[in-house]
Amino acid sequence: MTYTPDPSRYEKMQYNRCGNSGLMLPAISLGLWHNFGDDTSHQAKVDICTTAFDAGITHFDLANNYGPPAGSAEKAFGQILREEFRGLRDEMVISSKAGYFMWPGPYGEWGSRKYIISSCDQSLRRLGVDYLDIFYSHRFDPNTPIEETMLALDQLVRSGKALYVGISSYNSKRTKEAYDILKSLGTPFIIHQPSYSMLNRWVEEDSLLEALEDRGLGSIVFSPLAQGMLTNKYLRDIPARSRATQGKSLSSSFLSNENLSRIRALNDIAAGRGQSLAQMAIAWVLKKQRVTSALIGASNPQQVLDCVGAIDNLVFSEQELQEIDKYAVDGGVNIWRQSAEL
Ligand SMILES: NC(=O)c1ccc[n+]([C@@H]2O[C@H](COP(=O)([O-])OP(=O)(O)OC[C@H]3O[C@@H](n4cnc5c(N)ncnc54)[C@H](OP(=O)(O)O)[C@@H]3O)[C@@H](O)[C@H]2O)c1
Repeated sequence: MTYTPDPSRYEKMQYNRCGNSGLMLPAISLGLWHNFGDDTSHQAKVDICTTAFDAGITHFDLANNYGPPAGSAEKAFGQILREEFRGLRDEMVISSKAGYFMWPGPYGEWGSRKYIISSCDQSLRRLGVDYLDIFYSHRFDPNTPIEETMLALDQLVRSGKALYVGISSYNSKRTKEAYDILKSLGTPFIIHQPSYSMLNRWVEEDSLLEALEDRGLGSIVFSPLAQGMLTNKYLRDIPARSRATQGKSLSSSFLSNENLSRIRALNDIAAGRGQSLAQMAIAWVLKKQRVTSALIGASNPQQVLDCVGAIDNLVFSEQELQEIDKYAVDGGVNIWRQSAEL
């Protein structure tokens, strides 16, 4: 059956300006890291993406290595673009990234010009699009001059393969270096993609958001639900078919008694606000002015709808914030910490 988008979709979402740029992003964006590989049915992917678009989510975030296997999430989204989303390309912001392992040999990961440009070309082919709206350096490469990585991003814009560029998981020191180079080149560098959640507050320790603020950059924060831990999912047990049982990125050791008691306390605070825990977790990251968008993942359409409900209550009292702070402490769940330490 042909998909027809909900005509009221833009009334359901809030759109925030990305830093000082002209680009607006939805307050909630959808990432295709998990649940978009060959291990998931195509119809399940279609249902998640169309539900998201109907809810006003215009931004879909990918990377070369999303799957499994690597590359399959881009292929699947390319098929959705051709079939369900035909004619809607200009209503969407599609991003991809290069940085992590993609193919064997010395040219298949990190930040060389050789890798970044060839990987972007592959992403465009898999997605079947002429350009990406945002292309990211997925992680800082300590062995490649940062000038080379930034020049490669600049080249992608100049050759029409990307409209804007961003960096992901770079710490504030590296972010400032990247900014200076891209500013001197005149590259439209508008966004940073760090991890951030109530259980992972490294961006605060690193003063990253302040560095972005000073430079007029926006941010899209990933894993605001700490991969599902900040939802009602694990309050009682570890359900089958959850990320924690898949042996992928969410180690069941993260669900320690200590973390679970914090999560239950946060769930009580959310209930007091008339929200699900997922909704409060999203509202909590969005309360920072420099956070343009919360980048969620979902394994079904109901999760997308629950998350979008966060928009209905984004305001916190000082008392609620103080109460949240008692439990919103680092839970050892930041698996990207190493990249930010380079
Ligand atoms: N730049 C980077 O290095 C980087 C790294 C990681 C992620 N990202 C981006 O960020 C995106 C989001 O990451 P993430 O998937 O870890 O984000 P997340 O939103 O923290 O976690 C998503 C998971 O939470 C669960 N969930 C979501 N909504 C729920 C709800 N309302 N109720 C109950 N459970 C719910 C689902 O788990 P189940 O699957 O168990 O149902 C879902 O797969 C990725 O797709 C990717 O685009 C970027």
